[in-house]
Amino acid sequence: MIDAKTKLYGLIGKPVEHSLSPAIHNALFKKYNINAVYLAFEVDDLESAVKGIRGLKISGLNVTMPYKEQILEFLDGLSEEANAIGSVNTVVNREGKLIGYNTDGIGTLKALKRFTEVEGKRVLLLGAGGAGKAITYTLSRLAKVVVLNRTEKKAKELEKFGVKGEKLSKESLEYYLSWADIVINATSLGMNEDKTPIPKELLKEKLVVFDIVYSPLETKLLRETRKFGCLTIDGLWMLIYQGAESFRLWTGVKPDVEFMRKVALEALKSERRSI
Ligand code: ATR
Repeated sequence: MIDAKTKLYGLIGKPVEHSLSPAIHNALFKKYNINAVYLAFEVDDLESAVKGIRGLKISGLNVTMPYKEQILEFLDGLSEEANAIGSVNTVVNREGKLIGYNTDGIGTLKALKRFTEVEGKRVLLLGAGGAGKAITYTLSRLAKVVVLNRTEKKAKELEKFGVKGEKLSKESLEYYLSWADIVINATSLGMNEDKTPIPKELLKEKLVVFDIVYSPLETKLLRETRKFGCLTIDGLWMLIYQGAESFRLWTGVKPDVEFMRKVALEALKSERRSI
């Protein structure tokens, strides 16, 4: 029941209307008997939104596009990884101090670990945008990572994390696909379109393939690599594990990821019905 003690959490970004996070976090609050609600806020003016968060003592937030980097200057402190990555997807209000975290990297790592060993493995990461950067930071600490990106400069910038960065091309793909144990697509290619970053003729068997795109749930990349005999992991697992880390930072509760996935799948189904 919502009463005078109910705490408020939310998501800020633009657009936010298709987000699965409200469904997931509200279901978790109910499951764990936490007196809180989670809402999606479409924000036009970030600075005034952050003032509002302070003014209304909102307890915690997720941050999504286009504010993950812009929000840094308005916060009071950053976790080590948010500082290194320069991007925040979770804010915790600790007695009036807004502290920024980034759970994208750890979310990806935990999702991967659910299906495969990661330590010491050779990881080919496609994409050096916001998500690619967070994933590089986290995985570079325990695996061998090569990043390929359409814009070479952004791949090279990630070399500061001790990885190799190169331009994404047919040649580089071919070379590193023979090298890799795990391939992660952190480009937006394949999102709501039947396109894949890996041409069929370059596919290799025995790869673990993780696509962080979750719409559609089975992207062209996952469909083709699954048919080729690869172990495939969909992007909903990344969304769930990064959300689980946010929830833990806010409440101290380590949530049930199976339950979160069930809620997210239901929400995806009803979202499709409503479009
Ligand atoms: P996110 O926060 O989801 O990572 P982003 O920061 O906009 O989003 O990054 C998008 C990533 O997808 C980038 O690596 C981008 O490559 P560029 O750095 O060259 O822009 C990549 N990307 C998007 N469309 C692509 C395409 N058609 N082919 C290859 N890479 C693409």
